[in-house]
Amino acid sequence: MKALVLSGGKGTRLRPLTYTLPKQLVPVANRPILHYVMDQIAQTDIKEVGVVIAPETGSMIKESLTVNPWGFQFEFILQKEPKGLAHAVMVARDFLGDSPFLMYLGDNLIGESILPFVETFQKAEAEALILLKEVEDPRLFGVAVIDEKGEVKRLIEKPKEPPSKLALVGVYLFSPTIHDAISKIRPSFRGELEITDAIQVLLDEGKKVKSHILNRWWLDTGKKDDLLEANRVVLDELVKESIEGEVDHESRIVGRVQLSKGARVRRSTIRGPVVIGEDTVIENSFIGPYTSIGRNCLILNSVIEHSVVLDGARITGVERLEDSVIGRNTTVGKSQENSRALRLMIGDDAEVRL
Ligand code: TTP
Repeated sequence: MKALVLSGGKGTRLRPLTYTLPKQLVPVANRPILHYVMDQIAQTDIKEVGVVIAPETGSMIKESLTVNPWGFQFEFILQKEPKGLAHAVMVARDFLGDSPFLMYLGDNLIGESILPFVETFQKAEAEALILLKEVEDPRLFGVAVIDEKGEVKRLIEKPKEPPSKLALVGVYLFSPTIHDAISKIRPSFRGELEITDAIQVLLDEGKKVKSHILNRWWLDTGKKDDLLEANRVVLDELVKESIEGEVDHESRIVGRVQLSKGARVRRSTIRGPVVIGEDTVIENSFIGPYTSIGRNCLILNSVIEHSVVLDGARITGVERLEDSVIGRNTTVGKSQENSRALRLMIGDDAEVRL
């Protein structure tokens, strides 16, 4: 069995971050989302991993996988344009050959191991196995109707009147018959070759498609609030206390805080779960729960909570920063004492709420 990780796409909903960083590399608890995906695949016996990349961001994806603690044999597959998930499978046809495969969207995180799901597929005589999760508002997702044995009967993309609350999670298992199904579909109204349409072809041809319902969390990190939620959940579950940096005696560390080496905390309080990257300086500040701060940042005279701050950012004199995502090498701060004027230099598609 092989794996196909989709790391192309445009990432328009996470702009401006995604102008310079593919969304699969946006950090959650200071690690790229894509690395959590690889951790999941490493729990199975899969060794050959194809990674679909886009021309604009492919080199960054490749570079982030050069240190390969998972011991995978990677193959990078260029998708010249993001023409849909099924299109990505088409361009990976040579890599996949006639092997069954696990397809994993490179920006999806799930809270339970995929191993049982892969093993069920290896034993089951089915052409596909899809992962489902009950969601509050199924109108935003691909939705599945299943029978009492968990077999899929029908799939509907973003239904106005959802027949079930079971949304398709971005993890799928396919036998090679999916290639045949993909060759029969046409682009959807949004101009993409949809994987749900290809699975529907399997169903129309009377092939067996099984399902597995996730009990724990599933996060699609494609938008700011989802990214913050992913950061919250991952910090909650994975962060263990570890203080490698320096903390002076006027500072307080409360709860689970991971302070990387070279980081310095002075006259500040850090209340976990929090991660702080290498060589970051925190001075005269409060860092509240569910915050990830990257490397080489400076946080001075500020209060930050429930936020993701990327490498090299400088935050000074900000009374309270909440629910925010701050890009790399940005500066956020008060201009001058007693001045009420705002002085901004903001990139395209940024969002500023004052
Ligand atoms: P999406 O989030 O559906 O698409 P996108 O990345 O273009 O994002 P946006 O809607 O914000 O513009 O993609 C899900 C995952 O699949 C994501 O990791 C990107 C990847 N992908 C490809 O590799 N090729 C494609 O053609 C598409 C559409 C997505």
